[in-house]
Amino acid sequence: MDYSNKKICGPMVRCSTLAFRLLALEYGADLVYSEEIIDYKMINAKRNYNELFKTIDFTVDGTEKPLFQTSEKEKGKVIFQIGTNNADRALKACKLVENDVAGIDVNMGCPKEFSVQGGMGAALLKKPDQVKEILTTLVNGLSIPVTCKIRCLHTLEETLELCKLIESCGVKAIAVHGRFQEERSRMPNHDDFIREITKTVQIPIIANGGSNDIKNDEDIEKFRVNCNASSVMVARAAMWNSSIFRKEGTLPLDDVIKRFLQISIEVDNYFFSTKYAVQQMLHEELSSVRGAAVLGSLAGEEIYQIFGMLDQYNDLQQRKEDFFRFSALKRKTEEAENDEHKKVKENEKLIVRHAKYSKKDFREGVYTPKSILNAYTIQNKLPKPIYRTEEKLPEKVYKSTLEYNDFFYTTPYWEPNKKHTEQAAAMVCLESLGISYKHEDQKKKN
Ligand SMILES: Cc1cc2nc3c(=O)[nH]c(=O)nc-3n(C[C@H](O)[C@H](O)[C@H](O)COP(=O)(O)O)c2cc1C
Repeated sequence: MDYSNKKICGPMVRCSTLAFRLLALEYGADLVYSEEIIDYKMINAKRNYNELFKTIDFTVDGTEKPLFQTSEKEKGKVIFQIGTNNADRALKACKLVENDVAGIDVNMGCPKEFSVQGGMGAALLKKPDQVKEILTTLVNGLSIPVTCKIRCLHTLEETLELCKLIESCGVKAIAVHGRFQEERSRMPNHDDFIREITKTVQIPIIANGGSNDIKNDEDIEKFRVNCNASSVMVARAAMWNSSIFRKEGTLPLDDVIKRFLQISIEVDNYFFSTKYAVQQMLHEELSSVRGAAVLGSLAGEEIYQIFGMLDQYNDLQQRKEDFFRFSALKRKTEEAENDEHKKVKENEKLIVRHAKYSKKDFREGVYTPKSILNAYTIQNKLPKPIYRTEEKLPEKVYKSTLEYNDFFYTTPYWEPNKKHTEQAAAMVCLESLGISYKHEDQKKKN
């Protein structure tokens, strides 16, 4: 992989998800960085291929949002950024994604308290031994290129020393954000430091920090020339309007937001990530009616409605439901084939019926199927109902089986709502025992 002559979309926590990176690539970015992912979180992630959205998801058990998600569409162009203070742990985390990404970048510039106090990000700028250990471990242990992203130190001499040390570790490029650790992004960027670095090291230097003056593709090139750099990394300006990478010119913001929302549907972007990115794109009009509506939105359909894309959003929900139903059927068939004998035995005590719990059917009363069954249990001094709920990944759907008085009750469905599957299992049980639970019957009874 060559890091020269590249327009790069920089790493941004909460923003640089797969959907956002695909948007930047579509508009002409050559490489895209993931948001920083901390090594100790990543080492617990499991890799899954999501058949519905054709994405590769790295998710930690018990969490909903993948820590990192990628797809064939960004193959060869995505750089995974790691946050670390430990060489072995960093290597372990990077090994997990080694075959799915084009390169690894070590974040050595993050000034946030969380990073610095944990000895990560900008804390590393003053720890040459640790920098050396982390970078050489990654360079020697991985088959893909390793780079790092730094900020400038207070003197040019110190900064040049650091860059020489980094180069000696075998990294393929250095991204330099031309600000000191304590400098905020509205302050001027030290383009002069970047220029001097390019004269001191041989590997490509990626200039970063120019967003305040970048409004289009030409500005990206101006920044590159001014820094004498091989490549440019753009972060905030790309977040505000990703089409700045287009050679043909920047597009109106509404077109960009709608395209982003469409891609978010295609890769099932996590709602809060979609919301965050749209908020950033609308940063100049957050006090408008539309901006306030985005800020206040609590679910995907609200944002899609604001941008007139509710039909597309509903299509997505339908696709998901169809897929879950199809997967459940497929799994059931496979289970039946693999485990025919066991199933026959279990089936003698397993009661499967169609039942779907819907909150609105019980809205006016306090009597849910589970509470009715509990009351019946207490009245008749029976053993407590036991609910066992299975989870199926990556679809994140659930099926509950109720063990009650030596029998098992369940439905044929896998559903996205865990609590509803328990209620549905209780409905199957109540129906099998001939106990009425429907709201109308309860009203008559009372
Ligand atoms: C919302 C946000 C999140 C960021 N997250 C990261 C990150 O995860 N890793 C990193 O190295 N830098 C991160 N940065 C810093 C940017 O990558 C970049 O270095 C900085 O914004 C300067 O570049 P710019 O002028 O093009 O914005 C973040 C910046 C912003 C605004």
